[in-house]
Amino acid sequence: AKTHHHNFVVQATKVKRLCKTHNAITVNGQFPGPTLDVNNGDTLVINVVNKARYNVTFHWHGVRQMRTAWADGPEFITQCPIRPGGSYTYRFRIQGQEGTLWWHAHSSWLRATVYGALIIRPREGESYPFAKPNHETPILLGEWWDANPIDVIREATRTGAAPNISNAYTINGQPGDLYNCSIKGTTIVPVNSGESILLRVINSALNQQLFFTIANHKFTVVGADASYVKPFTTSVLMLGPGQTTDVLIKSDQPPARYYMAARAYASAQGAPFDNTTTTAILKYNSIPCKSHCNSSKPIMPTLPAFNDTRTASAFTKSFRSPRKVEVPTDIDENLFITVGLGLLNCPKGSRARNCQGPNGTRFTASMNNVSFILPSNFSLLQAHHQGIPGVFTTDFPAAPPVKFDYTGNVSRSLWQPIRGTKVYNLKFGSKVQVVLQGTSIFTAENHPIHLHGYDFYIIAEGFGNFNPKTDTAKFNLIDPPLRNTASLPVNGWTVIRFVADNPGVWIMHCHLDVHIGWGLAMVFVVDNGVGELQTLDAPPTDLPVC
Ligand code: C2O
Repeated sequence: AKTHHHNFVVQATKVKRLCKTHNAITVNGQFPGPTLDVNNGDTLVINVVNKARYNVTFHWHGVRQMRTAWADGPEFITQCPIRPGGSYTYRFRIQGQEGTLWWHAHSSWLRATVYGALIIRPREGESYPFAKPNHETPILLGEWWDANPIDVIREATRTGAAPNISNAYTINGQPGDLYNCSIKGTTIVPVNSGESILLRVINSALNQQLFFTIANHKFTVVGADASYVKPFTTSVLMLGPGQTTDVLIKSDQPPARYYMAARAYASAQGAPFDNTTTTAILKYNSIPCKSHCNSSKPIMPTLPAFNDTRTASAFTKSFRSPRKVEVPTDIDENLFITVGLGLLNCPKGSRARNCQGPNGTRFTASMNNVSFILPSNFSLLQAHHQGIPGVFTTDFPAAPPVKFDYTGNVSRSLWQPIRGTKVYNLKFGSKVQVVLQGTSIFTAENHPIHLHGYDFYIIAEGFGNFNPKTDTAKFNLIDPPLRNTASLPVNGWTVIRFVADNPGVWIMHCHLDVHIGWGLAMVFVVDNGVGELQTLDAPPTDLPVC
């Protein structure tokens, strides 16, 4: 196994999109950022130098970080931010994961432009469980604001209203030729006829689940979130932010130019979203460019309607592990966690500046009625490791405090969340089941729920309220897929299981960044049960302090 050394210099870089130039925060001046290309078993050493004017941290999304929790990266969870002028070196090893992951900033909304692919190939000397493709390419789906994304979220935090939606979706950083001033940069994937191509599709958008499809070509899905899956074919993918999907395509169509296109899967009723389409071009090399490349548009695929929950859910339900797996049974910790948005009532007649949400309220979000607040003086991992009191409390509830019809017509007076930095203690080695239950408070929405430090089996999902009497019969304990981000269906539920075999402090949150700011997160603390982290080393000497 190899060790890969990288320098990541965080800096403001002029990036022109949609006819305008912005000072975007990038890594090494690249947007999207550099691709990390490693083999299973390799070690990564990434030295981050912060030359921007914002605090920053880096997260290696989906990397298990076995006993290297100090390298996980979410701001104020496992580390304090790297200040302007500061630096920090992340060290971790890839253990047992193969496929596609990615990395992104985990502070404020910096990840809008600070992200890149992390490709994990089989161990040296080993091969893919499918025929070797002729070539491969990462496809990073993203979102672009014709503004500074940090200003957009700061303004929303100040007013309590929803932040402005993005101005374009992007493929590998480019909006594509359906947008103004975007013809030149459009991403082109060249192919020869009769090849097979591995596309590593990553949804790195901030706030939007996306459908992705290619005109006249079918996908064979072979992996997701750096785990192989039982191959299945489909003509459309749906990815929530954070999720990755590896697909094979065959260039077996008449030589031409075909659009690859992505657009929103917007599950929330009435919530505004960007309804534009981003495109890249799958271009057969044999077509004479004179007649095709300038004079006619590429062939356009049909995309599902923005609210096509049936297609989204049929897709997420198609995933299986390639073979029988060991799903944890004899569960030690059985949690039921509601996931939902809400509106905080403001004092009557108050004209508070931060109450500019619907009808003089402000937006909030919660899990089990707790709206998560990040600490600011210590990271939770540091506080836990050093026994610093007063940074968090250990009373995150294992079930919602009030039972009601979660997906019905809910009165929001029933559900004014409390704010807090509450964690849930998991004993090292315990077998955990979490039922994630979406709610319809304020509005029902599909939520991509991401757990740090773990992969989990998704053993079932469905619509409506989870019913322990009947829905347990639907559990797949044979070959459920292993993921790090679950698409919690709109007005529905998902059941996940994992073994708490990785000591540390791990955040579980909605990967729509707008929801994190509203508090849609909770934290698991995994240790040996006597307040010490099982064999987790002391923090690196360069760990940033607050
Ligand atoms: Cu990819 Cu906590 O995130």
